[in-house]
Amino acid sequence: MNVLLLGSGGREHALAWKIAQSPLLTQLYASPGNPGIGQEARIVALNPSKHDEITAFCRENAVELVVIGPEASLVDGLADTLRAQNILVFGPNKVPAQLEGSKGFTKELCARHDIPTARFVCAASKAEAEAALPDFGLPVVIKADGLAAGKGVIIAETTEEARAALDTMFDGAFGEAGSSVVIEEFLTGEEASFFAITDGKSVVPFGSAQDHKRVGDGDTGPNTGGMGAYSPARVLTPELERQVLDRIVQPTVDALAAEGTPFSGVLYAGLMLTEAGPKLIEYNARFGDPECQVLMMRLDSDLLALMLATAKGELGKAEAPRFSDDAALTVVMAAKGYPGTPDKGGAIAGLERVHGAKVFHAGTTLADGRLVASGGRVLNVTARGATIHAAQAAAYKAVAAIDFPSGFYRRDIGWREVAREKQAG
Ligand code: AMP
Ligand code: GLY
Repeated sequence: MNVLLLGSGGREHALAWKIAQSPLLTQLYASPGNPGIGQEARIVALNPSKHDEITAFCRENAVELVVIGPEASLVDGLADTLRAQNILVFGPNKVPAQLEGSKGFTKELCARHDIPTARFVCAASKAEAEAALPDFGLPVVIKADGLAAGKGVIIAETTEEARAALDTMFDGAFGEAGSSVVIEEFLTGEEASFFAITDGKSVVPFGSAQDHKRVGDGDTGPNTGGMGAYSPARVLTPELERQVLDRIVQPTVDALAAEGTPFSGVLYAGLMLTEAGPKLIEYNARFGDPECQVLMMRLDSDLLALMLATAKGELGKAEAPRFSDDAALTVVMAAKGYPGTPDKGGAIAGLERVHGAKVFHAGTTLADGRLVASGGRVLNVTARGATIHAAQAAAYKAVAAIDFPSGFYRRDIGWREVAREKQAG
């Protein structure tokens, strides 16, 4: 079968790499892609916001399945358009994608179905938000309702900071995304991510991961899209995973189905493991980036077969995904300046010297035939190992072989888990 993959990051390179291994695949197309994705797929120029252009391409090229990587296209309803044209899609429709597109939507759903999450209030005006502040202790968490590229969450330590955060949001710093806000209780515990594939009826666990959001070593500095990740997240024990599935993920999937807007695709639950049990911090309606890279590294079964079964609503009959017992870890090499304004055009060399790791391309492009940086996160150097420590050693060995003078990376990806492994002896 022919498949079209939309997106251009390290996540999509990992998906392309895995889809290309499937015996079911005839031709993989990708758009906009990147040079790494180009090693696995034929790159085509399509505008994802022009839904007609995508459907016409699928018709002309006998594309049977479209895999949508980034959230923007999902929230924009591209999946709805494709489904209406009888084209199979991996990724949810517009309404269920609101699980990621609107924090208020998710919180209200949690409230209706008794899904464990931080206590909250939704406010559509500054006056309403300010009036709600005294109901919360400090620190308090203030979130722009809509998509804000990971920047719309402020943890305010003082009431002044909280008021300033509300000023910023209602003054339009996040555009439409900040025209309403969620105020919520600050949760303490360790964060972990849990993934599930669902066709709206069946739910299949799809592994766990932890990422490093801060730019600097020791989890310091500003937040980023993620500077590295590893899988599995062993803090999420089988018992806790069961709780997450039974009390958070399955009720969410059931609620959306009952409301006539089933969620089909991958549901990414960001969790806080609190003393009172796992609580939902947020949902994403797509794979994480760079979490996807470590999941793909560990996935031993056919991704395309699973995506196809999901898109057809036949997940219940599909073979369950099989993951290696190995751990996987990815180190993000970013361009200096990230997460602010990254240096563009920096040369990248030495990828052919990498052994025992897979380098997924994120922000790369070809300039006069040479590989250069074109984004904030540039390469995702990913390795497998019997332990997180072994995977970490293999990934950093590969990082050392790469020549990227205008780049930087964190030197401590996986530190928490490596410390635990050492303690366990
Ligand atoms: P989100 O975009 O909702 O995932 O939030 C980004 C980050 O903010 C999360 O990964 C957490 O580290 C932090 N965060 C969000 N909500 C809370 C909360 N209620 N309590 C503590 N930390 C939070
Ligand atoms: N790495 C976080 C995300 O993909 O949302």
